[in-house]
Amino acid sequence: MIMLSRDKILKRVAEYFDDVEVSVFDSIDSTNSYAKGEFNGSPLIVLADTQTGGRGRLGRSFFSPSGTGLYMSIALKLPLAADTLTVIAAVAVCRAIGRFSDKKTEIKWVNDIFCGGKKVCGILCESISVTDGRADSAVIGIGINLSTDEFPDEISTVAGSLGLDKIDRNELAAQIYIELMYVLNMGKEAVLHEYETKLFILGKEVSFVKNSISYKGTATGINENGNLLIDVNGEIVALSSGEISLVSENFVK
Ligand code: BTN
Repeated sequence: MIMLSRDKILKRVAEYFDDVEVSVFDSIDSTNSYAKGEFNGSPLIVLADTQTGGRGRLGRSFFSPSGTGLYMSIALKLPLAADTLTVIAAVAVCRAIGRFSDKKTEIKWVNDIFCGGKKVCGILCESISVTDGRADSAVIGIGINLSTDEFPDEISTVAGSLGLDKIDRNELAAQIYIELMYVLNMGKEAVLHEYETKLFILGKEVSFVKNSISYKGTATGINENGNLLIDVNGEIVALSSGEISLVSENFVK
């Protein structure tokens, strides 16, 4: 795997944007934590070859071995409400992967990217500053398994890799940033549409728990806030957070 290089990333990003700071580490606890702490208003890209305390959603850890993955955080001021930031980021990451390979990526609402039935990427968005209930700056954390082939037991049934061991992580990281800037300005409707076309649970039966009650229904789409819409016996329920589990497939959370 090609070494991470701050200069390479900066050079590529600077073809389009001149205000970006880039930090690269051999090892760090979490690029998200570092980016949150160091953000000073200018867009900041942080990468590490490995993370000793990589974080996922819902307090989980993110397995981040050396030399086989892309562990990246982007801290920035937000031009849009952050409620669809994860949607925006997922679309940007899928686009960037698509520039380097013809692997078919799919999205599991709300923040996981799958390929070949396995989770190959997780996204963790965290707000940095909030004004009147709206995040005006945030960090987007992206963890992609490029060529990792061994995972801890607890995630081994769901985690997989893109199988891209030759990819230049510097090029991919720069492309993710470039796509993110594009998608941030694409307009909400177009982003939601693109996201929806990649959602692999559309039309499938899902189960979920809301207010401690279990439901079963069919995923029909997402609304303007990025909520997943489920048809439960003809009534549409909008899910804003939490987890869903597929009933129709042997899917492990
Ligand atoms: C998830 O799958 O729940 C989200 C995983 C997010 C992992 C990335 S790796 C880079 C960044 N730094 C972290 O500590 N987490 C994110």
